[in-house]
Amino acid sequence: VEPVVAVSWSPDGRAVRIIDQRALPDQYVERDVSTVNEIRDCIRTLAVRGAPAIGVFAAMGIACVMQQHAELPREEFDHVLDASAERVRASRPTARNLGWAIDRLLAGARATSGDALGAAHVLRRTAEAIRAEDRDMCQRIGEHALTVLPNDAHVLTLCNTGALATAGIGTALAPLYLAHARGQRLHVYVCETRPLLQGSRLTAWELGRAGIPLTLLVDGAAPALLRSQRVDCILVGADRIAANGDVANKIGTYGLALSARHHGVPFYVAAPSSTIDGATASGGAIPIEQRDPNEVRAFRGASAAPADADAFNPAFDVTPQALISAIVTDRAVHRPPYDFSSVAA
Ligand code: MRU
Repeated sequence: VEPVVAVSWSPDGRAVRIIDQRALPDQYVERDVSTVNEIRDCIRTLAVRGAPAIGVFAAMGIACVMQQHAELPREEFDHVLDASAERVRASRPTARNLGWAIDRLLAGARATSGDALGAAHVLRRTAEAIRAEDRDMCQRIGEHALTVLPNDAHVLTLCNTGALATAGIGTALAPLYLAHARGQRLHVYVCETRPLLQGSRLTAWELGRAGIPLTLLVDGAAPALLRSQRVDCILVGADRIAANGDVANKIGTYGLALSARHHGVPFYVAAPSSTIDGATASGGAIPIEQRDPNEVRAFRGASAAPADADAFNPAFDVTPQALISAIVTDRAVHRPPYDFSSVAA
């Protein structure tokens, strides 16, 4: 079974086709997106989510939007491009890949003189390159990460870091797809990932489709599972990696890392170079998205708390580099002390 394609060009090339991840696992719905408002809405509501996927989606989406303006005088085209890019950039703050992809797209256009039609073509080619490179980086992350996995690995993961979160076979899930394809035995423990259930809704769906054996657990069960010594390592993704190796990732990652240290379980992070933010010295400076408290109080319309209960709902937390055994990128398995100066994109 081929992994799903989270983001692609629509058949006529005028829109970006997405898998609407809000509907999974109950329904498989594809949608075509071609306006700035739709792009923003898809990113904010997690129809498209996962750090690499939102960067790829933003670049492809803006390229489609700008194709609709290719008849404008160049100066007006550039104004619309800048305004569109800034609106998409502001849709979610934590994932480094979003700003990285938009900066790369804008740099491509700025380096092009001539009319708007030419600039629109450059945007499309740049977006396609971002998509293709992300797919290749997933493959290389998988190869590097395989070198730290034992045979018959029992791996614990959080959130969704697979095909749904990238343009390829994922980041932390990439070595698991590769191991399975090569006939290696493995077992994946999937943390549910409250409040939006990316683990149980998306990772369990993806791995299940691929025939990879898995066990679901509620997030609070992870420390007890680690104590049982049934887990060889923890493998998670990243939304932004600071220059010193501190990692922002899905809320709950920090607790897993603390627990892993206590129980002597290796804790690995896997991410493409586009997630490394060389300009941010350490995790304290990473912007953490705070989401609507209603996500904690209810799920898909069913209440889970008194409607007036106060709720704390950060989407991400920061794991200090001291708790991380290694960071696997498309370039290498990086060990502390971290030095990404030759890697950061
Ligand atoms: O809020 P989400 O679902 O976009 O959060 C995604 C994560 O935290 C992933 O673990 C991270 O982006 C790595 S994705 C390969």
